[in-house]
Order: sequence, then structure tokens, then C-alpha cells
Amino acid sequence: MPRNTTTKAASKRSSGTAQKSDETMLKELFLDELKDIYWAEKHLTKALPKMSKASTSQELSNAFQNHLTQTEGHIGRIEQVFELLDTPARAKKCDAMEGLVKEAQSLLEELPKGTMVRDAGLIIAAQKVEHYEIAAYGSLVQLAKTMGENEVADILAQTLDEEKQTDQLLTELAVSGINLGAEEEPEE
Ligand SMILES: [Fe+2]
Ligand SMILES: [Fe+2]
Repeated sequence: MPRNTTTKAASKRSSGTAQKSDETMLKELFLDELKDIYWAEKHLTKALPKMSKASTSQELSNAFQNHLTQTEGHIGRIEQVFELLDTPARAKKCDAMEGLVKEAQSLLEELPKGTMVRDAGLIIAAQKVEHYEIAAYGSLVQLAKTMGENEVADILAQTLDEEKQTDQLLTELAVSGINLGAEEEPEE
């Protein structure tokens, strides 16, 4: 019967001696997500120079270059957070970021060099990356607040803002001409 099942499950939960508190589990979840984004940011420092080099327009190339500098700052902030939480800074492979970067690479293989279509493709790939980061940092900021770690929340909120600004800049670059240029290009 459903009622019995619930009671059994509840007593099983409370009887475990090595039972972790919700607080501990929340901190573990937070650290796990922090390790994920730490890996992702480090991975991006290798991808962004390639994206900058692959860009056709100088504006897009500069945007990637500037975001590389910001990304190095994001890594520094994550290390600051690890320190505040008395935990060694460790990265944990982020399959999602690995996949997003792979997608960007295959786009570059498909799209001809020196075209605005290539830039349009790069912007799409980069915005997917930014949206992943926005989701990750948005969640981390919320979790930190729930944990009462307001300093940590403030530090990560700065990065969240920069990711949002970058996403916005990429939209502006697309709207301001790259997509239009791509449409006007003669088909092969
Ligand atoms: Fe970042
Ligand atoms: Fe980013």
C-alpha cells in the first residue's frame, strides 16, 4: 500500500548513521557544479584564441580576444571561491562544454574561410557556450545565496554579468551586419 511504502522509505532514510544533512549535500552539489564550470572555463581558454583567429571580421575577432581576457578572470574568481570555501581548486570534466566546443570546431570545418557565413556560425556556437555559462553561474549564485555564502554569490554574480554582456554583444554583432553580410554572400 502506498502509505506503508512511504513510511518504510521515511524510516530507512532517518535510520542511516552515515546520513548526510541537506546542508552538506547542498555544499557538495555546489562544489561539484563549481568544478564543472572550472573545467569548462579552462577549456574555453584553449578554444577562444582559435575562434578569434577563425573570425572573418575584425570586430568578432576582437570580441573573442576580449572574452579570453575575461575568461581568465572567471577562472581566477572560481579559485577565489574554492579558497573561501576551504576546498582545493579542482576541475571536473564538463561533457557539455567539450561537446559545444566540438560543435564549433566542426562548424569551422564546414564553413569556408574568409566569409561572413563563417562569422555567423561562430556567433551561434559562441552564444551556445555563453548560454551554458549563464545557466551554470545563475544556478551557482542562487545556491550560494541559499547556503548563506553571500560573498561567494557576489563574486560569481560578477562573472554572470560578464557572460550576459558577452551574449548581448554577440547578438549585437550578428544584428549589426554579420548576418546581413552572410545573406548577401554569393552562393558557391
Ligand atoms: Fe566564463
Ligand atoms: Fe563566457
